[in-house]
Amino acid sequence: MEDRKARIAVMVSGGGTNLQALIDAQKSGVIKSGEIVLVLSNKADAYALERAKNAGIKTRVVSRKEAGSREAFEAAITAALEEAGAELIVLAGFMCILSADFTRRWEGRIINVHPSLIPSFCGDGFYGLHVHEAALSYGVKVTGATVHFVNEVTDGGEIILQKAVDVEEGDTPETLQRRVMEQAEWIILPKAAEMVCGRIVRGEQEGRQ
Ligand code: GAR
Repeated sequence: MEDRKARIAVMVSGGGTNLQALIDAQKSGVIKSGEIVLVLSNKADAYALERAKNAGIKTRVVSRKEAGSREAFEAAITAALEEAGAELIVLAGFMCILSADFTRRWEGRIINVHPSLIPSFCGDGFYGLHVHEAALSYGVKVTGATVHFVNEVTDGGEIILQKAVDVEEGDTPETLQRRVMEQAEWIILPKAAEMVCGRIVRGEQEGRQ
């Protein structure tokens, strides 16, 4: 069917600039095969929730602390995703590691944006600004961003899109983070979301996990 849209849930923990890129891409038509139906945060004070509300998107907060155990946390997330009828889960700065039980439940249906060229500067402990600190202290001249499917290995699932970004003389972790977002993340995340939504609405099989 021409205009069926895959139902997208975006999971966030912070500022939500990648969420904003997805919202803008939906408005501009870059995302045409999907529709964001839920923004779920593990932090009640995440600015991303404001961005969702401003765009008229339903929000949910599921706190890891209040849930108690990881099982209870993931069960609450799954319930919210199921209630929303989510077909694609986009991790956009979601700073919790998900268990193998969770990733298997949503096999081929979770994508993540990571701020480096995987397999560099990724895996446990590499998130947010730490990734750019590590890239600068190693001295790489090129870094970038990756969108990949999520499996039980942190940052280990199949790569969907990558984009390289130059490191510049005098970069700080903050200036590098900003350039990687502007030149890579905000472009490849919406593109990858559209690619996967397209496959979902056409009923195609997703790739390797
Ligand atoms: C982004 O740079 C994203 O790639 C990174 O956190 C930032 C979230 O920013 N994610 C990870 O490091 C995941 N391992 P945002 O809230 O403004 O989108």
